[in-house]
Amino acid sequence: MSHGRFDNPVVASLAGFLDLFRKQEFSDRLKDDDRFDGRTCLITGVNSGLGYALAGEMARRGARVIGTCRRLLDETEKNLKAHSGSDNVEIRFLDLSKIDSIHDFVDGLAKDKINLDVSIMNAGVALPGARKTASGQDEMFQVNYLANVMLCTLLLNKGLIRRGNKASVVRPRIIFISSDSHQGSSYIDYEEFGRFIPYGVKKGIANYSYFKLILNTYATELSGRLNDGSVDVGVHVICPGPVHSNIIREAPFVLRAILGTIFRVIFRSPGKAALPVVYMAISPDYEGRTNEYQHMFKRKKMDEKVYIPEEGKKLWERSYALWREIDDRAGALDETR
Ligand SMILES: NC(=O)c1ccc[n+]([C@@H]2O[C@H](COP(=O)([O-])OP(=O)(O)OC[C@H]3O[C@@H](n4cnc5c(N)ncnc54)[C@H](OP(=O)(O)O)[C@@H]3O)[C@@H](O)[C@H]2O)c1
Repeated sequence: MSHGRFDNPVVASLAGFLDLFRKQEFSDRLKDDDRFDGRTCLITGVNSGLGYALAGEMARRGARVIGTCRRLLDETEKNLKAHSGSDNVEIRFLDLSKIDSIHDFVDGLAKDKINLDVSIMNAGVALPGARKTASGQDEMFQVNYLANVMLCTLLLNKGLIRRGNKASVVRPRIIFISSDSHQGSSYIDYEEFGRFIPYGVKKGIANYSYFKLILNTYATELSGRLNDGSVDVGVHVICPGPVHSNIIREAPFVLRAILGTIFRVIFRSPGKAALPVVYMAISPDYEGRTNEYQHMFKRKKMDEKVYIPEEGKKLWERSYALWREIDDRAGALDETR
């Protein structure tokens, strides 16, 4: 049976707080004049929290930002333009819990011939219990893991993230927003994989960390498959550290009150938490590199299970098999990249 590092949300939050005191070796590497001019950046989940701050900061630094939301589209676009002082922000609809929405979103980008330089898979949920999606998956598994596989694969398959330009000075980057709480989660349990199994708050917290371990294992495998010998597309993972965001909004009332206080008093603002992600997206330090992991501004290793080649290969095969099972439109997908 799978398990995550934590099953107590208060302990998980306090562990995140302690992380703030660890040395942040790259904290002075992001400069005020580091800019994204001429680059198109996709960020999922930009109506609140880290995604909103990232979209604003990247637009402010000259990026053409394509942000996604499943609600508050017009309001988010208006606020982000005002907040960043840039008109180069466009919000598109994407609900990652719905497979058709992922296809429609990517088809829309393809129709508009978008070329993505940076793709940040940020959207995520922490749910207090299991909830079934229309395709029969657990919602947190779908949104935090499988939807990212689908989105990345479709973006690559349709040439929206361009490959084959190894000589280019600036190669595309894909960044997965994860959590350092993935460290210490169990091996991937393939008896459970993709099955809807009801759970409550404790297992929900554990699953959050465990699904991030699955995500990081996929990122590592994707990085290996895309980059044979030299780097074509940089695939990286980052934990933004503890962020005062909306992530606990579905927690039961009393727990939300306790966690809300912890978040308000000791967690960092989304604006501050966004900076290491901006650094990873923009810095020449990452040019020609792939499969790096940053915990805030500190470069480190992910859980050792993430790097086991057999784990990555098995996850890859099982993920695409599951996708084919649940999606009529998966037929034409090219899973080799
Ligand atoms: N907060 C932390 O301390 C912390 C720590 C480590 C990692 N992270 C990670 O940081 C990322 C951003 O989270 P956050 O803390 O900024 O939380 P947040 O404020 O709740 O933002 C999450 C974003 O994801 C979107 N989202 C949720 N379900 C979606 C779906 N089905 N389809 C499309 N978008 C969906 C949300 O949209 P709605 O508003 O419509 O739900 C929102 O825009 C997540 O991947 C999270 O796991 C957070």
